[in-house]
Amino acid sequence: MKIAVVGTGYVGLTTGTAFAEKGHDVVCMDVDEQKINNLKKGIIPIWEPGLTTLVRGNAKSGRLTFTTSIEEAMQSSQVMFIAVGTPPGEDGSADLKYVRQVATDIGKALSAMRTRKNAYHVIVNKSTVPVGTGNLVRDIVAKHYKGEFDVVSNPEFLREGAAVEDCLNPDRAVVGTDSEKAQRVMKALFKPFDCPVVFMDVRSAELTKYASNALLASEISFINSISRVAEVVGADVTKVAEGMKLDRRIGPHAFLRAGAGYGGSCFPKDVKALIHISKQAGVDATFLQAVEDVNATQKASVVDKLETLLGKKSLKGKTVTVWGLAFKPNTDDMREAVALTVIPKLVRKGAKVIAHDPVADVQASIYMPEQKGKLQYVQDKWEAAKGADALVVLTEWPEYQKVTLAELKKVLKTPILVDGRNIWDPKQAQELKFDYDSIGRQVGNESEDVLAACCSAPEMHAAL
Ligand SMILES: NC(=O)c1ccc[n+]([C@@H]2O[C@H](COP(=O)([O-])OP(=O)(O)OC[C@H]3O[C@@H](n4cnc5c(N)ncnc54)[C@H](O)[C@@H]3O)[C@@H](O)[C@H]2O)c1
Repeated sequence: MKIAVVGTGYVGLTTGTAFAEKGHDVVCMDVDEQKINNLKKGIIPIWEPGLTTLVRGNAKSGRLTFTTSIEEAMQSSQVMFIAVGTPPGEDGSADLKYVRQVATDIGKALSAMRTRKNAYHVIVNKSTVPVGTGNLVRDIVAKHYKGEFDVVSNPEFLREGAAVEDCLNPDRAVVGTDSEKAQRVMKALFKPFDCPVVFMDVRSAELTKYASNALLASEISFINSISRVAEVVGADVTKVAEGMKLDRRIGPHAFLRAGAGYGGSCFPKDVKALIHISKQAGVDATFLQAVEDVNATQKASVVDKLETLLGKKSLKGKTVTVWGLAFKPNTDDMREAVALTVIPKLVRKGAKVIAHDPVADVQASIYMPEQKGKLQYVQDKWEAAKGADALVVLTEWPEYQKVTLAELKKVLKTPILVDGRNIWDPKQAQELKFDYDSIGRQVGNESEDVLAACCSAPEMHAAL
């Protein structure tokens, strides 16, 4: 099948490449000339494990090509994917300016095609878009193109850092369409993928994407809320999560890993967008708002923890090393990363920050430029940590997970460590005399007052 993918970012490039790998002929189009020129030379604009090999292999075989011309992309394609960004607007709603532009461009390009004018086309929205965008795209295209076409919703569920694997072996494909003709095309498209294809109406497919991301974000905020209770009552949130996940109604893959909060290009913006959609629909969004609020305070709590460990000493004049800038391991994506909250806060409080990330330092320096004496990026993690007054870890990159506390103790000036991703063992940290804090794991440090309050609750006495 001949496919065009408009927008060659994390989603467009990876899904387009996966379609090519499965035997379809794919042309990826983008307005960013430099990106397309680099892709033609085999230079990949994003850091995503396994993607470079796959792009180069499929480009070599001729199944994957790149262009900046929408007319060229449309020329021989029966199916056109829209995979452009839908960033949050000021009020949290998804900004649809790129989607609108692409719909206009597709309509005009289809109309201008002479050879296959009036042939049937399927326009597939892969971008995450508010309910009703399918209709919007259909109306925009119809203004310019009078031939036969359908607009389908096929939201993308890939995880950055595992995007290649997710696109080649998806859990499922969600396809929203009311047209039998479009359904047949989409079935053929996904035939080479060994996954269930769930058909539904367009609006339900659009909402499925937001609902999925909102639930995953909720799980994270839920376990982070439990981590706060665990810290006060002296429980271990990682054990609590382990115990919970064995319940088949919860499951082993539940997002119950407590940490310094979620970031990335999807969860924060999609929760915001769903809050906006709910409010527009006159539906109470208290639950989703709480998910966001918990996440905001969770990110900020990292600095509070560091200040508590420093005790009377203030952050002013301290050198704090931050390991992990990307919003998660195995990506260079800095969008809404926790580091973007923590580092400016540390700098504002007078600390000098030495930052390290295995791949995201270049991206990070675009968001947070180096500032003499305030923020510096260092390429070697040991060099970054050498002589620091404290270390804060914000991303659980595998290379940090291999580091032992004994090794850390040798390089830090003072063994103060905020482990924002629960990498190290708190007991070992205590044995090695670290001033250490992590998320929800202060076993044995429970406050006597709180325990007394818990144990004197009337229900507890009644049960005895
Ligand atoms: N990144 C993820 O993990 C992920 C996962 C699932 C869904 N999504 C959704 O997929 C969509 C794309 O996300 P992304 O992360 O790939 O975005 P991105 O910002 O990485 O890429 C978007 C690309 O679209 C291009 N573009 C913009 N306007 C264009 C136009 N008129 N014509 C052609 N190209 C144009 C940009 O140059 C850019 O290369 C968003 O709606 C996002 O919410 C993202």
